[in-house]
Amino acid sequence: MIKIEVKLKNNPYPILIKRGLKNNLSLYLKKLQLGNLGFVLTSPSVYRLYKKTIKKNFSGKGFKIIVSADGEKAKSKYWLFKIIKTIVELDKKNKKPFIICLGGGTIGDLGGFAASIYKRGIPCIQIPTTLIGQIDSSIGGKTAIDLPEAKNILGSFYQPKAVLIDPDFLKTLSKKDLREGLAEAIKYGIIKDKELFSLIKNNPKKILNLEQSLIDKIIFRCAKIKAKIVEEDEKEKKGIRTILNFGHTFAHGLEAASQYKKISHGKAVAIGMLYAACLSYDLNRCSMKEVEEIKQILALYNLPIKINFNPQKVLNSINYDKKFTTGKIKMVLIKRIAAVEVSTKITAGDLKKAFKKIN
Ligand SMILES: NC(=O)c1ccc[n+]([C@@H]2O[C@H](COP(=O)([O-])OP(=O)(O)OC[C@H]3O[C@@H](n4cnc5c(N)ncnc54)[C@H](O)[C@@H]3O)[C@@H](O)[C@H]2O)c1
Ligand SMILES: [Zn+2]
Repeated sequence: MIKIEVKLKNNPYPILIKRGLKNNLSLYLKKLQLGNLGFVLTSPSVYRLYKKTIKKNFSGKGFKIIVSADGEKAKSKYWLFKIIKTIVELDKKNKKPFIICLGGGTIGDLGGFAASIYKRGIPCIQIPTTLIGQIDSSIGGKTAIDLPEAKNILGSFYQPKAVLIDPDFLKTLSKKDLREGLAEAIKYGIIKDKELFSLIKNNPKKILNLEQSLIDKIIFRCAKIKAKIVEEDEKEKKGIRTILNFGHTFAHGLEAASQYKKISHGKAVAIGMLYAACLSYDLNRCSMKEVEEIKQILALYNLPIKINFNPQKVLNSINYDKKFTTGKIKMVLIKRIAAVEVSTKITAGDLKKAFKKIN
């Protein structure tokens, strides 16, 4: 068992990583003494695949299983209120409810947000089952749902009580979802970890075949980086946590502009990172070598390096999210692999010019 502590002053918690952990989830949960009414939130695909595991760990009166939707659809007002309503109905005398998010990043974001607003906060546990979940979204307490106007626009900072990671969950993940998770792993390489970047670049076959030692290494390194960044800047006030948004300004704009239907988060992040690199090149922050390196690694994993989109729509979504009130927005730019910087001086003109390189 590997344990990474997220050492936050007010909300410290452990990240436990172990193959086979899913068979003993109830054991770990018991130790945490979170309450006596657990709401297990999951998605239809995960429920179908892991019904036995879920029932084995979470059966009896103390648990209620809620199956929401697959994918981004889950991060909606509809599902948020459906969960809250289910909790309200069962939260009677002497009950202490808590939420267990067992699924991908969408389930974690939705369940975490519900936990953060019900009675101003009930305990929440993250059990991520996708690569994006295991290396990124379950850690750090950013929770949210989407509105048609913009992604993650209703949200909170709300740390879980623990993150329980079983890499064996990835065995049933589609290759598409695995590749999308690798886009976020590449992001960690680009912002902080040259060795990780090389490891992903040099082993596409083995990684796509889920070679255990490599997958375990990727999960550990990414989780560790995320934990450290969150410790240093929990609420994104010091500009440190901002670097995790590398590639995400464009990604979120694209996702919202396509109504969360045509493009998934991982793919959007992949093209968003290439976009950020092109923009960095335009603004003399990096050389063509970095742009090419990013293009190559994305291509190795069949991640998009060109995409059809409506520039104005994407710009509108970015504007809704970030607001060009001073004529400028903040974005993460790349200098070299494992060296990025936050610029607060990006104009709509800069954004439009770089659009052309990936459209
Ligand atoms: N909160 C954060 O800090 C943060 C960070 C990164 C991403 N995110 C969010 O995470 C979301 C993307 O997460 P995701 O890629 O996990 O998407 P997802 O939750 O939609 O999962 C992808 C698909 O895989 C299925 N699935 C999940 N686990 C499976 C398994 N073990 N086997 C087979 N199928 C499985 C799901 O049902 C879904 O259909 C986005 O909404 C993004 O904004 C949040
Ligand atoms: Zn992301």
